[in-house]
Amino acid sequence: MAIAHRGASSAAPENTLVAEEVARRGGATWIEDDVQPSKDGVPYVMHDSTVDRTTDGTGAIRSLTSAELDALDAGSWFAPSYAGARVPTLAAQLADLRERGGNLLLEVKGAHSEEEVGRIVREVRAADMTDRVFVQSFDVPSLRHVRALAPELPLGLLRDAPDADPVAVAKDLHLASYNVSDRGLSTRPELVEELHAAGVAVNVWTVDAPTRWKALDELGVDGVITNRPAELMGWISAHGS
Ligand code: G3P
Ligand code: CA
Repeated sequence: MAIAHRGASSAAPENTLVAEEVARRGGATWIEDDVQPSKDGVPYVMHDSTVDRTTDGTGAIRSLTSAELDALDAGSWFAPSYAGARVPTLAAQLADLRERGGNLLLEVKGAHSEEEVGRIVREVRAADMTDRVFVQSFDVPSLRHVRALAPELPLGLLRDAPDADPVAVAKDLHLASYNVSDRGLSTRPELVEELHAAGVAVNVWTVDAPTRWKALDELGVDGVITNRPAELMGWISAHGS
């Protein structure tokens, strides 16, 4: 399965609705994004802790109000033709996916309080998208908050390097998937079989090279998170098992 990392982020500005649309038109049914709150507590789709790299503004996302974030241009930095793309709220992205199709691999980016996670959960439920959202995070407390507040949402733990005992961690956190970096998995490829035997899926990030797609396909991983979803969909069609 192809999962579009921040949307089709090799072809469009990451974490925008246009990147999501490009991924969808390229055949990806899963979009990954990153969510963080504004100063006034509204969840927005953005990867970095500041808006500097991916918008025409400056400052920490948590220091900017939703009115300030709504005024930013999130497309021009990538290419002039994307001028006017906005930083989407999570609510806007969920509404767009619901209407136009697709599922969301939603990364709770950085540490979140229980209240902040509660706002995310409320928005997913309000959009009637609980069956099309899969939550992932590097932040273990955030995953525990999601589990406590919304046990219906499947959970993935993001890891750069694998834990000593990923199966034990998966059981403790009630994980549906273990989402490990390609580099990390390369050090212990046998983990795919071990996690599968425990009923846990394995998704790997962020993989753009066909040689690695082939290796991961042979290992039997469940999902590949990529900046090049259309190319991966084509590759799966031609070569995937
Ligand atoms: O989905 C995995 C990947 O997004 C984790 O890294 O830094 O791109 O959020 P990052
Ligand atoms: Ca991410």
